[in-house]
Amino acid sequence: MATRTRASMAAVLALLALAALRCAPAAAELERVEHPAAKNDGSLSLLVIGDWGRKGAYNQTMVAEQMGKVGEELDIDFVVSTGDNFYENGLTGVDDQQFEESFTNIYTAQSLNKPWYLVLGNHDYRGDALAQLSPVLNKIDDRFICKRSFIVDAEMVEFFFIDTTPFQEKYWTHPKDDHYDWRGVAPRGNYIDNLLKDLDEAMKKSTAKWKIAIGHHTMRSVSDHGETKELLQLLLPVLKDNGIDFYINGHDHCLEHISSRDSPLQYFTSGGGSKAWRGVFQPTDDKLQFFYDGQGFMSLQLNQYQADFIFYDVYGNSLYTWSSRKINHRQPSIFVTEE
Ligand SMILES: *[C@@H]1O[C@H](CO)[C@@H](O)[C@H](O)[C@H]1NC(C)=O
Repeated sequence: MATRTRASMAAVLALLALAALRCAPAAAELERVEHPAAKNDGSLSLLVIGDWGRKGAYNQTMVAEQMGKVGEELDIDFVVSTGDNFYENGLTGVDDQQFEESFTNIYTAQSLNKPWYLVLGNHDYRGDALAQLSPVLNKIDDRFICKRSFIVDAEMVEFFFIDTTPFQEKYWTHPKDDHYDWRGVAPRGNYIDNLLKDLDEAMKKSTAKWKIAIGHHTMRSVSDHGETKELLQLLLPVLKDNGIDFYINGHDHCLEHISSRDSPLQYFTSGGGSKAWRGVFQPTDDKLQFFYDGQGFMSLQLNQYQADFIFYDVYGNSLYTWSSRKINHRQPSIFVTEE
């Protein structure tokens, strides 16, 4: 009797140990930044810029000036960067002058003196990736809030910032002459498994009216890079399962809106922060709504019922406007296109 009890106890303990091992990585909850909607009517407005840090070159300064004007008009709450914050190879360290030359000294308008929530792009991983995540930069310019994957919780809307660079297999297997800073990331499989699990959990728990995912890499795109197949395979099902409204990315240096044909998901590319005009067009299986090959940025205004997107060029002209309305929390969105 006693022997049998001891044996089964041992078996239970072994199972528990195994379970603890399996669960350990999933225990990491995504970091959450609270950003309550500041305006009296509960609305929120923001700008989205991507692929920008070139010391003002390639029209970066023109885009920055127009962001300042639009930012003031819309009384923005914050700015989102879809990554590739510093070219060509991220920052060399926390003391890299490029931080000031490409960020602090470029986005000088008063209206842009708001939090900037940033993800890393593949070019950021080619330098000291940890530097951009360091609180030291935040001391130099307190707008700069860059993390790998995190949530910005603005009550009616949750933004899921996703570190997409580790997904792309060729950076690991065929890096060519580029070096990627995988400290804190490798091995790839574990990192992605845990990230997808954490995202799925956080998205399932979310009661926000709008759920918006932000990453650097494209899912659907008609420009140079086209689709990122690893994201379509691994991340897209998580977004669709959890009723994510919008996926917003950079990576392709253009402005795009593409609608999913088999779900309500909408794809927006805002990657026109500096060098653009690639002159590449390739078709997509989904529905292309808008494509502009040049520089510019995007604004997003949200309230409980409506999300309004606008793309702007380097002169501040609005190129394209699109709205999505939500009648009821439990009903699917109704889409209204305005041109
Ligand atoms: C800057 O923007 C203008 C207007 O879109 C464009 O004609 C010009 O080619 C751009 N310059 C560069 C270097 O991309």
